[in-house]
Formats: sequence, C-alpha cells, structure tokens
Amino acid sequence: MKSRRSEIASALVAAGSSGISGERLANTFGVSRVAIGKHISALREVGYTLDAVRGEGYHLTSLPPGLVPVEVERLVTDAFWTSIDGAEETGSTNDDCKVLARAGAAEGAVVVAARQTAGKGRLGRTWVSPEGGAYLSALFRPPCAPAEVASLAPACALGVAYGLEALGVPCSLKWPNDVHINGRKVAGILLEMSAETDRVEWVVAGIGVNVHASADSPGDAAFVEEHSDASPSTVAAAVLDGLARAYREYTEAGFAAMMAAYESRHALNGAEVVVRDRMGAVVASGVVEGIDALGRLLVRGPEATTPVVAGEVTLRS
Ligand code: BTN
Repeated sequence: MKSRRSEIASALVAAGSSGISGERLANTFGVSRVAIGKHISALREVGYTLDAVRGEGYHLTSLPPGLVPVEVERLVTDAFWTSIDGAEETGSTNDDCKVLARAGAAEGAVVVAARQTAGKGRLGRTWVSPEGGAYLSALFRPPCAPAEVASLAPACALGVAYGLEALGVPCSLKWPNDVHINGRKVAGILLEMSAETDRVEWVVAGIGVNVHASADSPGDAAFVEEHSDASPSTVAAAVLDGLARAYREYTEAGFAAMMAAYESRHALNGAEVVVRDRMGAVVASGVVEGIDALGRLLVRGPEATTPVVAGEVTLRS
C-alpha cells in the first residue's frame, strides 16, 4: 500500500503545469490543509521543487534528482512491495533490512538509500556506494528449504535485468548474480539469509546499481546513464518491479521455469573459466555449458561436467 505522502506526490505530478490547490489535495485525501502543508514541506525537503501560486495552488517544477524513498514508492507499480523505507545515507541497506526481518516485518519490505558508508559486496568485499547509485534491499520469505535458496541468486539477477531492460538498458548476466553492460558490471547483488535446517526464515536481497558515474566509482564499472537518463529513484523503482516479477516466477514455478530467460542473457556460455570458492581454492575449471534447473553453473572439465553451486568466476586467459 502506498503512503499518503507518495500519493500526494503522484497527485502533484498528475496535475502538471495546471497545479493543484491545497484545498483540493485536502479533500481528495480526507485530511486537513495543515496536514497537506506538512506533506508539502517534507516533499520540498527531499528535493521536490514546488511553486505555490496564489489562486492556483502548488505547481511541481522538478523531481528530486537523487534517490528518495518517497519517489521510489511513487514510481514502483508492483503491489508485492509492502513498505519502502530509507534515508539519504546509511551504513548498509542490507543491515537495515535485516533489522526489519528480525523484527518480523512482512515479505516485501524494502530499504533504499542514496549512498552507503559501509556497503557490503559478495565474498566479504566492500561495495563502494557513492551518491549517484541506487542502493536497495528487499525482504523475501521464500517457502523453501535452505538448500534451494542458491537458485534465488540467479533469479534475482534476472529480475534486475528485467527492471533495467524496461528502461532500455541492454543487460547480460554473469553467473551467479552480476548484471553487466557490454562486459562491464552495472549491478551487483548480495543475498543474506537466516534459516533453520529445513526452513528459510528470511532472505535479504541487496542490490547496488551504478546509475551515474562519480569520482569514487570503480574505473571498470558500467553505468545506467550510458543508455538511459532515468534518475536513481526511477532505476530503483524499475529494479523493484523487475525483482517482484522474477520472485513471483520463482515462487510459482521454480528456477527451472526461468532458466531459458537467464540463459538467453548469460554472457559466460562457451567461455573458458575458473571458479574459485571464497578461500580462493579452485572448485571447477573448463568451458561453461550453461546452467541447470537448480541455477548451478555447468563447467565442462577434461573428465566431467561439474555443477557449481557457488563461487567466483574468472575468465581463463
Ligand atoms: C556484489 O559484490 O556484486 C554485490 C554488491 C551488493 C551491493 C548492495 S548495495 C545495497 C545492499 N547493501 C549492501 O551493503 N550491499 C547491497
């Protein structure tokens, strides 16, 4: 359900250049003019520019350029998302979302941020998270056993690709869950979970998307701005819609039903690779044959084909 503030933002956008009066907003939402005034001040504070014209009301003249939770909420269309919280800056949206998960929040809770001071990447790495990116974490409670969760990683990567493609950004996937543009990484995904032996309690899917380049961005990264002028809020909303679609496919029919969609975007098919575990030990080496119905990478070595559940893939030169 959308918050009153995001609905007021939608009404201001819909009114366009004709503007909308405080009285009309108050009547539409069944609240006082004072309450509308407070929402308007809060929207201004986060970057909406609004002119107040005597006799006409509020005119929205520009939207926030950076990532703003209420703007993500206004733009997201999939009803799967139950709440969108966030701040301009946080340590890690994954950590914030894990707090919600442990407190019993419903599936579909989201935390977003315009920048992170302690962004986390896969395999214990740091995810440098300057302003200009979209950083978001989503809470899932998949009805499955812990062993089945490995395939949620490629399913989420496909969801991010669905979202970016809807903005006109051409994506490829690098197993298990990197999203690329022309061989350079545009988005990364970190899944964290809590489980009992036979039941997953929650999964937090954290996604970082490079939208605009900044002085702190990694030199080898790709950026959404190369293909689209979407704002970080628009990118976050599109990614959330893509992710909800992928999660629905995953829970309704399993990863097996998403395999073809993943394969058609998979950049590693036919590549000579080495896969290492988090300690750096080689778990497989050979030619990528594809992925299987469990989301495992199939690597054909000299003697056999190894299905790899998790690891870091590098191209063999
Ligand atoms: C990777 O190493 O490729 C995964 C990067 C995941 C980064 C995102 S940004 C939002 C969320 N919060 C974090 O601290 N990490 C994830």
